[in-house]
Amino acid sequence: MVMLNFRFVDLLFTVITLGTFLFLYLQYKRTYWQRRGVPTLSSHWLFGNAKDIIQSKKSPGLVIGELHQKASNNDDILGIYILHKPFLLLRNAELIKQILIKDFNYFPDRYFTAQSIRDKIGSSNLFTIHNPEWRYLRSKISPVFSSGKMKKVFNLIVETADSMNTYLEQQFTNDVKTRSIEMKDVALRYTTDIISSVAFGIQVNSFDPKTMQFFQKAQKGLQLTVFRMIQIGFMFFFPKFAQLIAGKMLGSSTDYFRKVFWNSMDNREMTKVKRGDLIDSLIDLKNEKQENDFKFEGDVLVSQAGIFFIAGRESSVTTICYTLYELAKQPEIQKRAREEIHEKLKEHGWTYDAFQNMKYLNQIISETLRLYPPAPLIDRVCVEDYKIPGTKVVIEKGTPVYVALCGLHQDPRYYPDPLRYDPDRFSDENKENIKQCTYMPFGDGPRICVGQRLGLLQTGMGLVSILKNYEVSLDPTYKGGVDVSSVFLTVPEGFRLNLTKL
Ligand code: HEM
Repeated sequence: MVMLNFRFVDLLFTVITLGTFLFLYLQYKRTYWQRRGVPTLSSHWLFGNAKDIIQSKKSPGLVIGELHQKASNNDDILGIYILHKPFLLLRNAELIKQILIKDFNYFPDRYFTAQSIRDKIGSSNLFTIHNPEWRYLRSKISPVFSSGKMKKVFNLIVETADSMNTYLEQQFTNDVKTRSIEMKDVALRYTTDIISSVAFGIQVNSFDPKTMQFFQKAQKGLQLTVFRMIQIGFMFFFPKFAQLIAGKMLGSSTDYFRKVFWNSMDNREMTKVKRGDLIDSLIDLKNEKQENDFKFEGDVLVSQAGIFFIAGRESSVTTICYTLYELAKQPEIQKRAREEIHEKLKEHGWTYDAFQNMKYLNQIISETLRLYPPAPLIDRVCVEDYKIPGTKVVIEKGTPVYVALCGLHQDPRYYPDPLRYDPDRFSDENKENIKQCTYMPFGDGPRICVGQRLGLLQTGMGLVSILKNYEVSLDPTYKGGVDVSSVFLTVPEGFRLNLTKL
């Protein structure tokens, strides 16, 4: 008995000692920025500055955006901790420009990674790949989005918008004039059809129950389960450990997507008819005699279609949904947009030029992307020790660096009355006042979004087709807000709006 008690006391002592050491070690780790002379905010002993993220109370983009805003206006940088891992937040336009553009060589890669031997599709795509492979791949893929190519994609977008309108029309049975419609679902079907064509070279109609297998497979495979959320969180904030719980970028539908991709490649190689999309570029890449050691084959090729699909679909859905939401709240802006749409369609017909001439609509989209940037964290990792110009601060190799768009785009130093939705900020006369590197929904520098043109075009044409035929207003049952389960900024599931036939 005495013996047992003694062991228990020993054990208790050991646990308390180890616990105290661990606590002190964690406290010490949270002095990293202080030791380097970088300003910080108060942080939780265990969660650091990420308590609301880890407790799933708020979306990461919003939490880190709030940290940007809480810092003093004089601070160009802010040291933050996700748990105990130090990240550096850039808060000043000049410094952002310096790091993303001028000193790109020190910051050529993203910290976010999906490095996993189990999922080449996640680890070898244009978004996750590191230099020097990235530079080579980017030069091969960029031409897919030239303005000439976008003019060709335009016809496909018009066709898809037609299918969307037929689908919407079918929701208005028995002479009903107003209906509550789940707009996120509609927008997802619309962008799925466009992106599947650009990425996989196939034509699907997700609005038709007979041909919506591709859409269903995509939805099932990419469903945000709790486990998938944790995996994505690790890829962002603790990429080294992401290996341990690595999932697959294309989820449970990986084999399906792989099959679709290779069928498309084989068909295209057989017919030899070029369509100028990603598949053509990948065939060239596969057949090219490379003077370097990179091997663009197998899943590395599938990977490029996969990232187009992941990056190109939801980002435009988010932009379409939040734009409609803001226009539902502000009927006068909606009216002005609709008048312009009717006028330009009358003048130019359903053409690429008509869309280019819809200045006000484009201002509206820009303002939505300011307040609701779909990819709210721009991240880079420092590959060599870097001294911030004009300061004594050295960013150590391996340190992740962030620009928090929800903070930057709502910073009163750059945007007066920042929370007001005001498309006129982007009018010809006002947009000159927007400082470089204070507005960057597509990122900036050499790693800026490669699909920007397509993103804007499909978002714009989706809005044109809806606003042309319907007035949007709020559905009182919908509570608004942001999906807390996603690292990206997006509307929650079940996002509904009322549509009234014009
Ligand atoms: C409204 C639509 C879109 C938004 C807001 C958006 C936003 C972004 C952002 C913020 C980045 C990171 C840029 C950086 O780190 O500096 C990015 C990268 C990327 N985006 Fe987009 N995107 C959109 C549409 C698209 C589309 C349509 C595609 C393709 C079909 C696409 C493919 C990519 C790829 C492949 C990258 C990685 C580029 C690289 O590292 O070279 N995006 N996007």
